[in-house]
Amino acid sequence: MSKVWSNRFDSSLNPFIEEFNASISFDKTLIFEDIDCSIAHAKMLGKTKVLSTEESIKIIEGLESIKEDFVAGKFSPGPPSEDIHYSIEEKLINLIGETGKKLHTGRSRNDQVGTDIRLWLRKKIDVIDILLAELQNSLLDIAESNIYTLIPGYTHLQRAQPLSLAHHLLAYLEMFERDRVRLKQVRSRVNISPLGAAALAGTKIKIDRNFTAEELGFENIYKNSIDAVSDRDFCVEFVSTSALIMSHLSRISEEIILWVTDEFSFAKLTDKCATGSSLMPQKKNPDVPELIRGKTGRVYGNLQALLTIIKGIPLSYNKDFQEDKEPVFDTVETISTCLKAMTILLKEGIEFNVEKLMDSVNNDFSNATDLADYLVGKKVPFRNAYQIVGDIVRYCLTRNILFKDLKLEEFQKFHCQFQEDIFDNLNPMNVVNSRNSLGGTGFEQVKGEVNEWKKKLLI
Ligand code: ARG
Repeated sequence: MSKVWSNRFDSSLNPFIEEFNASISFDKTLIFEDIDCSIAHAKMLGKTKVLSTEESIKIIEGLESIKEDFVAGKFSPGPPSEDIHYSIEEKLINLIGETGKKLHTGRSRNDQVGTDIRLWLRKKIDVIDILLAELQNSLLDIAESNIYTLIPGYTHLQRAQPLSLAHHLLAYLEMFERDRVRLKQVRSRVNISPLGAAALAGTKIKIDRNFTAEELGFENIYKNSIDAVSDRDFCVEFVSTSALIMSHLSRISEEIILWVTDEFSFAKLTDKCATGSSLMPQKKNPDVPELIRGKTGRVYGNLQALLTIIKGIPLSYNKDFQEDKEPVFDTVETISTCLKAMTILLKEGIEFNVEKLMDSVNNDFSNATDLADYLVGKKVPFRNAYQIVGDIVRYCLTRNILFKDLKLEEFQKFHCQFQEDIFDNLNPMNVVNSRNSLGGTGFEQVKGEVNEWKKKLLI
């Protein structure tokens, strides 16, 4: 197949370089967007009378039939076409002849590829938002039925204070909500049309950029043609937002991996989402959260790749930009599958061991702060109360007992203000219930949180 630029060149491309230069193997992903972009362009050229109505219609019908052929499996873009843009143009010319050669009037592949990738990413962002909402819903379901289930809360991975399990899980809902807000903001910067910037300088052909932007559902158009073909900030922003999504997925994955160990036993994996070992018959492995945790590295890597690709590129378009696609495609694929996998894992892959959880919070010193707060309630300055409780902890440790095992007289040896009601104060249910400060783990707060989320996620 001769190249569109063949008249300008004496010899043809070295076959290895031809393949090296090509992007069709991956940018064929953009086929629908490329066709939609071309349809909008052809319609606009008809409207501005650059093409006759018949020519415009002929091109549009040709493009529609290429789309149908692709869907029906009768056309598959591939080599020797260099990229998806040439592939469609070549196919169109094949199909409708000379008129097809008019499609590329007043545009360049530079504004075309920018348009395609934005259209593609916009769609994917909408799907990812739905996947995030589904994940939030699956967390909310577990939270709603576990308001009164307690789980040890940790700082430094050391037992800190008991929590409502719902409160713990709802922390992730907040993270995923911020991710959704960030994605929405990224979407608004993805949703800007570069079409009509042509190669870099605009065009003398009579085009109507607002028309194509509207046809393609863009909210706005790039104001500067050079920026329009050079901007890949939106790719970085998308992958950066995705990197944060992966970090949140990775954190919950890590917790699940810990929870299902024999050491923690806070939860167990059902057979739906666990795998066995090829050698050790007793094993049930948390492959799903491990894979999610591992795949986080891919997305971080994609972000690094994109940042490096755009660094130091002089204005305007440079072929380096062809390298933007694979990291963006891979990121979309990775976060979409990981979000789905985590949702399935939460829905049917994990069962909390409520008995073990309740037992855990009953058998540690995570109510130490409450002991100190009890004395604070009796007007003992907090710093003094803290020291007194430190002494009590040491006293218990040397005897291998817990606060609840102490007699009232023993408490009173440490401070005369301790009364019988100290035992109620130490009960983990009461401990959690008492943390009623705004946003705290107290049951009233958590019920409020659950209700807020139920309303919010319905929308
Ligand atoms: N395949 C190219 C890309 O992905 C399309 C744009 C090519 N433009 C050019 N001036 N060579 O960026």
